[in-house]
Formats: sequence, C-alpha cells, structure tokens
Amino acid sequence: MADLTSNFIGIKSPNPFWLASAPPTDKEYNVRRAFEAGWGGVVWKTLGEAGPPVVNVNGPRYGAIWGADRRLLGLNNIELITDRPLEVNLEEMTRVKKDYPDRALIASLMVPVNEESWKRILEAVAGTGCDGVELNFGCPHGMSERGMGSAVGQVPEYVGQVAEWCKTYTDLPVIVKLTPNITDIRKPAQAAKQSGADAVSLINTINSITSVNLDSFSPEPSVDGLGAHGGYCGPAVKPIALNMVAEIARDPATAGLPISGIGGVTTWRDAAEFMALGAGNVQVCTAAMTYGFKVVQEMISGLSQYMDEKGFASVDELVGRAVPQVVNWQDLNLNYIAKARIDQDACIKCGRCYAACEDTSHQAISMSPDRVFEVKDDECVACNLCVNVCPVEGCITMEQMAPGTVDPRTGKVVEKDYANWTTHPNNPGSCAAE
Ligand SMILES: Cc1cc2nc3c(=O)[nH]c(=O)nc-3n(C[C@H](O)[C@H](O)[C@H](O)COP(=O)(O)O)c2cc1C
Repeated sequence: MADLTSNFIGIKSPNPFWLASAPPTDKEYNVRRAFEAGWGGVVWKTLGEAGPPVVNVNGPRYGAIWGADRRLLGLNNIELITDRPLEVNLEEMTRVKKDYPDRALIASLMVPVNEESWKRILEAVAGTGCDGVELNFGCPHGMSERGMGSAVGQVPEYVGQVAEWCKTYTDLPVIVKLTPNITDIRKPAQAAKQSGADAVSLINTINSITSVNLDSFSPEPSVDGLGAHGGYCGPAVKPIALNMVAEIARDPATAGLPISGIGGVTTWRDAAEFMALGAGNVQVCTAAMTYGFKVVQEMISGLSQYMDEKGFASVDELVGRAVPQVVNWQDLNLNYIAKARIDQDACIKCGRCYAACEDTSHQAISMSPDRVFEVKDDECVACNLCVNVCPVEGCITMEQMAPGTVDPRTGKVVEKDYANWTTHPNNPGSCAAE
C-alpha cells in the first residue's frame, strides 16, 4: 500500500490530512476523538492573548447554502477565535501532544500587531510541545474589526513584519495562514516568504452573506433581527482555493514555498487535486463539521488506492504534478479542436442541452420532432455548456477531432492528436505523444 506519511516543513504526520483551526479542534475532547478517527494532525482553534474578552454570539453562528438534495455546499460563520481561557487550551494541548506524539499539533495564533504581544504568545505556546505555529491572518469578521485576522492578511507589509517577529522569537516552524479576501494572493505569500516564514496555508474563509430573510429583512444567520457578514467555506469555495494555491505554486517569487491547502476538501479526490496543484498537505474543516471525524477514513483509503494505481510511492510524488499544466490564457493551444458528442442511448430527451445551446450559445444542437438531439459540427465551438447542463453524467462528451480532418466551422485542419498528451505541448520533454 502507498506510503501516506507526510513530512511538511519538518512536521511529521502519518497522513497528509490535518484538521484546520476551527470548532473541530477547539478542545481536548474533540482532538482526541479526531486522532482516534485517524487524522494526521490538527491546527488547534486559534488562541488569542489574555486581553479584551472574546465573546461569541449566543444566536445562530452559521448560515448555509445547500444543493437540491440538501447536501451542504457552503457554510458561513460569524464565530470568533477561541473563547476558552488561554491557560486551559495550553494545558489541553500539552496533554494531547504527549499522548499522541506521532500526530502533528499546530498552535494557531492571533494577537494584535505589536512585537511584545507576539513574543508573549509564542513563549506561552512553546511549552506545549506543539510542532509548529500558524499565524491566523485570515479570519474576516469580528477580530478583523480589531485590527487582527484578515486586517493583517490584506496588508503584505504587516504579514511580513509579524512573520519576521515570529521567526525571531520561536524556533518552531512558522506557517502563515492567508486570507482570500484580497485582490492578489501572491503578494502576502511573497511577503511571508521574504520574511523567512516556513510555509503558507490557504484559504481562510471568504467574506459572505449567505441569504436574507424576506420577512424580517435580516441577513442570515440572524441574531435578534440583525446579521453581519461572515466567512464562507465548504465545497463551494474549493475552486477559489485551488486557483489561489496554484497562483502561489507557479509564482517564481514564491518558488519552493511549502503550501498547506485548505478550502472545501471533502473527499480524497479534493485533497489529491490540492496536492497536485502544489499543496504539501491539506487541512479540513467543513467536511468534518458536516460528516464527523470518520470522514478522514475515506480520504486515507481513497488517496492510498489512487497512489497505488498511479504507482506513486509517496505523497511527494503527487505534490505539484499539475502545476506545469496551469498556464496563462495566451498559452492555450488554439489548434485544439473538439466537438460535442451526444450518446443517444444515454439521452433522456430532457432537452436542456438544446435549450441552453439554442437560447444562449451557438445554436449547435438540433431537435427533431421526436426529440432526438444532434450536434451540428459546423456550429459547435466545444464550449462545454451542454456537457455542464446535461443531467446525465457522461451522456454528452467533448471529443477531439481526428488529425487531418477539417473543422467544418472554421475550415482549419486538425494538426495533431493531442488526446494522448499528458502535459501541455508548451512543456517540451514532458509529452507522452512524442
Ligand atoms: C465555524 C468556523 C470557525 C473557524 N475558526 C477559525 C479559527 O479560529 N482560526 C482559523 O484560522 N480559521 C478558522 N476557520 C477557517 C477554517 O480553518 C478554514 O480555513 C476554512 O473553513 C476553509 O476550510 P473548509 O472549506 O474545509 O471549511 C473557521 C471556520 C469555521 C467554519
């Protein structure tokens, strides 16, 4: 069986699945259960300094978006960092680390932007035996109004300054957790790297209002008739997180900077995608909050089976594998020509492909009186909309036109068979077809 052991910036864990800093890691009871279920590591719920009290709302903290089957797709929260006393957290962390020496235990930290506060909190956590610290520059609500969390993550100079203090006052590996609520994610990542941080982790939650009650006109979650923006996470944010991870992984200025991938990881496949785009490990929050800690078991068995199938001996062989295939738009191959193909046996004659294509795209699907849908090659631009709206998986596919054939729409001759290329043709030497 493939070896899933992970060594992320020198922090060892039996697998690359860590729980992200959040309610699942808020206390000893949870973390012990998580480790028993098989999680490789945890980032403890963010600790603050003894100062202005952290008081959470006693109304609903979460809002959500669901799919048609009521499966939770996106979660919004207005929770703060831990509201439990620092001393209690430190004692619990010490006990847990002692009992689970093979698991990764990371202290997540958030204190005001002044050197003394960071020095103090680093000294406080040093005695727990934790394996590293994660600087929470990401939470977008509640604490950011006090000048912490995303208020720091949005200013690369602050990110760099705090990371530098941390590298001065601790020998533990320093992970900088980034906020996605920023125009260019590469900038804070560059600042982290320049300041000597060992890694970045991303993403924290995205500013959001999930819904509005149309009777009370309060945003949800509504606390006594009022709502505040919260942080969005779960499967819905995965595409945004994947892109940001890839942006950092392929930025020459942050080349080699280890990344811990976070955002919507629910299955082994999600995790593998993050890792292929450059994440050395992944962190999970919403999936554990939705399905419980045992969800990690599917992740472990799925990833290990996939790695066996691919012949990967260790997770490092997967990390970054997809990065060379992420290119800028102008590097896409304009000589690649595909057409939609409809499997008539699988078609249920719902007509969604026809409606979408006829009304909003290229009028490239015909409908006969007995509802047989066919692709008109001389109109089809292979936009993929019909594939995406078809309710039957695999019924409509995109097929590359054979080399030598003429595209009836453009008159272009298809030059090469790109179907067997395993990497982009702009990456010479890495192509299976030549
Ligand atoms: C209720 C809740 C509380 C959270 N609290 C923290 C926190 O204290 N510190 C932190 O760094 N991130 C916090 N997060 C963000 C998560 O660690 C994670 O970055 C985010 O949820 C994206 O991962 P996911 O899509 O797997 O949930 C919290 C998330 C949720 C849902």
